[in-house]
Formats: sequence, structure tokens, C-alpha cells
Amino acid sequence: MPAIDVLLIGGGGREHALAWAIAKSPMLGKLWCAPGNAGIADVAECVGIDITDHAAIIAFCKEKEIGFVVVGPEAPLVAGLADDLRASGIPVFGPSKAAAQLEGSKAFTKDICERFAIPTAAWAKFSDIASALDYVRERGAPIVIKADGLAAGKGVTVAETVEDALTAVNIIMADGGEAVIEECMVGEEASFFVFSDGTNILPLATAQDHKRVHDGDKGPNTGGMGAYSPAPVMTQALVDETMKTIIEPTVRGMADLGMPFTGVLFAGLMLTKDGPKLIEYNIRFGDPECQVLMARLQSDLLALLMATSDGTLDQVRAQWRSETALTVVMAANGYPGAYDKGSIISGAEAIGGEDTIVFHAGTARKDGKLIATGGRVLCVTGLGKNVTEAANKAYDAVNKIDWPGGFNRTDIGWREIAREKKNG
Ligand code: AMP
Ligand code: GLY
Repeated sequence: MPAIDVLLIGGGGREHALAWAIAKSPMLGKLWCAPGNAGIADVAECVGIDITDHAAIIAFCKEKEIGFVVVGPEAPLVAGLADDLRASGIPVFGPSKAAAQLEGSKAFTKDICERFAIPTAAWAKFSDIASALDYVRERGAPIVIKADGLAAGKGVTVAETVEDALTAVNIIMADGGEAVIEECMVGEEASFFVFSDGTNILPLATAQDHKRVHDGDKGPNTGGMGAYSPAPVMTQALVDETMKTIIEPTVRGMADLGMPFTGVLFAGLMLTKDGPKLIEYNIRFGDPECQVLMARLQSDLLALLMATSDGTLDQVRAQWRSETALTVVMAANGYPGAYDKGSIISGAEAIGGEDTIVFHAGTARKDGKLIATGGRVLCVTGLGKNVTEAANKAYDAVNKIDWPGGFNRTDIGWREIAREKKNG
């Protein structure tokens, strides 16, 4: 088979991890990335195409004879980029616009859950603000209020009091927005990732994320401040149950409804006392969960992505390093609020080896120096025999990075580290 030239869409830590893994593929010719970042530039040629301009992406693919496109973030998928590429005869990893509704619309996903008896929180959707406020008063707290639509993981309020819930409803619905109001589920959260080619499902791995900005899971929600994989709380029995009660009915159901799901399906789960329940689906890799998955993946990622895209997922397998991978996100001071751009980062280049990888998110190079250009900036990743050791590896590397303009959580993996300590 001739080498294949690939275009990767995106420029975050997730895409650096994908680029890093794709670059190892013996099938790869040249790797391009739009827009990319300073870390991706080490393994790919970055191009400044506007990724919302589908015609420009298609023209670029034709000009460069790109054989395969991999879409990292959700926004281009929800906007139908995969459909437009397929219509132009360009193979792509990523779901159709119709299937991307699993992330793009909470109400769509709740309908799927109801139709196919998939365990999830009880919910109701409102477009009338007075009815929403009445419903909150009637149900009481704790209760969960969500905006319907893409919100980059930030459109959710887990309200402990009725007052907070009413405020959240007012904010979401003030300019005509729709709100989804949910039962508050209790348990530990875990993430589970699978590839689906529309029919076949390849289970990938489990992970746990840390969404709050500060140590001790305090402060506002972010896109994710750190993660590890595998997540020991997701036992094989829970993985099997999740496949049977959540993933398989979803993939079958989507196909039956004429919108087969092809791509990576990321299930956010609550491990309740009654079993795993779906919090939400994402239709892309998690960021930073992707970084820990890619650090562990031993199989040829490009081969797996292509099998997902061309319907031959039943012919491939995924092999994983047995170690735990843990990533610590270094973010610009101020994140997730307004943050400074352009501060200089030193010491990141010197870090590397078998067991430590620095994935870049919002970075660029200016006059030979590495500078911060985004909120989340570096994802410092370590591998070790358990979460404790992986965290030690990651934090040893974090300590070698000199970046006065940034901060990081110091307790990534804390739940599991406490369990490991207790179990000796
Ligand atoms: P989402 O953007 O849907 O992932 O929600 C963000 C976070 O809100 C989740 O990771 C959970 O911590 C929390 N959450 C969302 N829905 C619920 C629910 N029904 N019950 C309890 N917590 C929830
Ligand atoms: N880290 C959570 C997400 O990517 O949605």
C-alpha cells in the first residue's frame, strides 16, 4: 500500500497527541495539520487554513492529494465537515453532522436514551422560562441545569440549592436559549472510549478527568486540568455492562435511525449504585483524555482510524501499554477566565523519553522561544506502574518547566492515589 498523506484538523493538546501517534504509523506519508501548534510542528507541517471554511479544506486536500482527514474537535463535525469531505470523495475520520448530534444536542441524546432504554438521568427540556422555573421549584435541589447545544463542557450547573438552580435557568434562558433540567446522579465519574464504524465497535480504554480548575476539585469547570488512564474504578465488569447497556444500544440505534455513528464515541459515565449511567456523549476524543490514551496506545493509530472510517473495524485490534498514563495540564494564569497571552515557557524541550511526554496545546514559537497562546498550554504526561508512579513522573517533569505565566493543579489522580495508598 502506498504511503498516505494525512490532514489533521485542530490545534490543541488532543491534536498534538493524535499527531504524535499518527506520525509513528508506517503507513504515513506526510502529515499536515490545520492550524496546529508549536508541538505539532515537530511532527507535522502546520497550515493556516480556516477550519470553518469547508471549501478551503477540500481545495487543500485536492491540491496536496491528501488521502485521509482526521478531525480532532467537535465543532467542525457538528458543522458537517465530515459530510462535506465524504461528498468530495475524501475519506475522513469523524461522524456525520447527523450523528454528531449525540454531542451537539443534549435533547437529541436524551431522546436516543429514551427510545433505546439507555440508563441516564431523568430530564426535561424547556423553551419557556416560566415553566422551567416552576419545574425547578417543584423538583427541588440538588438539580442539574444545562444549556442545550455545544458549550465546551462549561454549560452545566450542578445546583446545590433551588436558588442557584433558578439563577442558572435565568442565565441560560435570558436570550431565548433552551434549558435541559436533569435529575442529579450520585457516584464517581469515569470516561469510556470506543471506535465505531457504524456497525462494529472497538472498545478502547477508560480514563478519569479533573474538570475543576483548582486542587481538591474546587473552582469553576474547565475543559479538563488533568487525566489518567486506565481508570481502575471502571472494572472489566463495569466496562462489559457499559458496552451492553449504553454503547451497543446507541450504535445499533443510530444505525437503525439511518445515521450510523462512525468515529470515536466518548461516554461520560456516572458510576451509580444502580450501575453505570450516561451523563453525556462526546463524538471526539476528550482533551486531555486523548493524551493519556495515546501515551498508552501501542497499535498503529492511523490503521485504526482508517478501519473506523472504511467499515473494517472488525479486522483490527488495539494493543495498550499496561502502564498507567497521567497528564497534568499547565494553563495560563487566569484560565478559565481571561488569561494572558505571549508569556515565555522554558525547559519544556529538554523533557522526553520513554515515560514522559509533553503535549502542547496553546503554544507557538516566537524568535526561537516557546510562548503561551491559549488557556490550556502544555499537557505534561508520565507513565508508571500505577497512578501514583505516573503522577510522580508527570510532576517531576512539570517541576522542570519554568513558566511564571502559568499554573497547574498539584493533585491530579488524587482519588486513585489515596486508594492506592490505602490498599498498600
Ligand atoms: P457535561 O458538560 O454534561 O459533561 O457536564 C459537566 C459535568 O457536570 C459532568 O462532568 C458532571 O460532573 C456534572 N453533571 C452533568 N450532568 C449531571 C447529572 N445529571 N448528575 C450529576 N452530575 C452531572
Ligand atoms: N476533558 C473533557 C472533554 O474533553 O470533554
